[in-house]
Amino acid sequence: MNLLHITAECYPIAKVGGLADVAGALPKYQKELGINSSVIMPYYNNVFTQKNEFEKIYQSNLILGDNYLEFSILKLTNNSLGFDLFCVDVPNLLYKDYVYSFDDTERFLAFQIATLDWVLTLENKPDVIHTHDHHTGLIPFMVSQCFKYETLKNTPTILTIHNAQYQGWFAHNKVYLLPPFNFDNVGLLDWDGSINPLAAAIKCAWKVTTVSPSYMEELKLKANGLENLLNHESSKCVGILNGIDFEVWNPETDNFIIKNYNKDSYISGKSENKNWLCEKYSLDNTKPLFVFIGRLVHEKGADLFSDIFKIALKENDISILLLGSGDKENEESLKPLIELKNFNAHIGYNEKLSHIIYAGADFLLMPSRVEPCGLNQMYSLRYGTIPVVNEIGGLKDTVIDIKDDGFGIRHDGVTIEKATDAIKRASDFYKNKNEFLKNSKKIMEIDHSWNNSAQEYLNLYKSLKQ
Ligand code: ADP
Ligand code: GLC
Repeated sequence: MNLLHITAECYPIAKVGGLADVAGALPKYQKELGINSSVIMPYYNNVFTQKNEFEKIYQSNLILGDNYLEFSILKLTNNSLGFDLFCVDVPNLLYKDYVYSFDDTERFLAFQIATLDWVLTLENKPDVIHTHDHHTGLIPFMVSQCFKYETLKNTPTILTIHNAQYQGWFAHNKVYLLPPFNFDNVGLLDWDGSINPLAAAIKCAWKVTTVSPSYMEELKLKANGLENLLNHESSKCVGILNGIDFEVWNPETDNFIIKNYNKDSYISGKSENKNWLCEKYSLDNTKPLFVFIGRLVHEKGADLFSDIFKIALKENDISILLLGSGDKENEESLKPLIELKNFNAHIGYNEKLSHIIYAGADFLLMPSRVEPCGLNQMYSLRYGTIPVVNEIGGLKDTVIDIKDDGFGIRHDGVTIEKATDAIKRASDFYKNKNEFLKNSKKIMEIDHSWNNSAQEYLNLYKSLKQ
């Protein structure tokens, strides 16, 4: 089976969040199941594309409204990713030093059109096309409706929703940017008066998945306006829990961390990583270290962090370290806390540091209001770091509370009080050294690798009638 993933991000080529981690890991695990899985993404101007070689395998022009744009398809050479990686180069449009920006409608439309134009020319066409989020959400529409892609019409398309908050809306007066289609079907593009790429994909894809089963159920109740649509299409909707890349996220072999360790060397390994962090960020290494890694946005509860952290630090004998960036207000609200003795923050994005933090922390905080899956909690388990989470989406599907014979700490809702109570429970749990150690080692063995979920995707592809 030939499978093509179409995505805006893929680790390690370009990463903004978890979408990249999924696109960079799932194909590798799919190859192990015998699927010829490959990835196509935009060619951005970044450290990875500058440092690696790409071979130009196709060149043509695409039509975007009134413009003819030259594009090429580049294939990564000397590739150790475990799957073929293709990039679409549209000079002056996609090739920027950022992934997302204000002109994403044009950028991602050009990306999607170039991809399908190229697919048309392939001798070995994909048997299944797998799209991710709204950036590639017009693919299922174009494959099923645009005259020029008529020969791809019977190719099954899958949409995976990583986050339904963002839908890629644009005004109907830009419809001319799409390749010609039967205008009687323009309604397929519309939701509530705008062109809505995510909604169009939900309508046109053969199957729709979310990145955890709970998130699918939650979306049917609240999906930033798409709940009725998801209920209407529910027969083709299913939640498949993300996995994690066990090769990249492995404390025994991770090149980013200060000291490698496994379950047996947990104590010394974790403390070396923790000591390094505490020294660098002027924290006391005898206190339990609570950390947050992620985007500082409302969905992650970041607007409450400043209050939560101040109270938690007052009520408990703990340290807190944060790595993140996002909304300016949230970033600013944390700055005064840096003056506090047991708090520090690295505002910015740093892949290496994130690994050291997963390795050196005792507890990982995720008071997310929305969490379609969440990968951080699964990374933290692998590094023997106990997750403290709001029970929502994928967090609900992956973290069981200690009081229910589980291994983590859950709170039911995101308020300052609920989050600080959970930190208090975690801090008390830390005081019981034996239980704490036993639990931290135990969680390192939980298997969240992609093996199971890659098989679920395979079953889904096989269920599609062509
Ligand atoms: P989301 O995609 O919603 O941001 P996920 O939990 O799925 O959340 O994935 C987030 C990914 O991004 C993880 O790999 C996490 O380690 C990484 N990450 C987030 N913020 C940062 C940061 N500031 N520095 C380094 N890595 C980060
Ligand atoms: C999105 C979600 C996150 C999920 C990731 C990968 O960014 O916010 O919860 O883990 O996609 O699917």
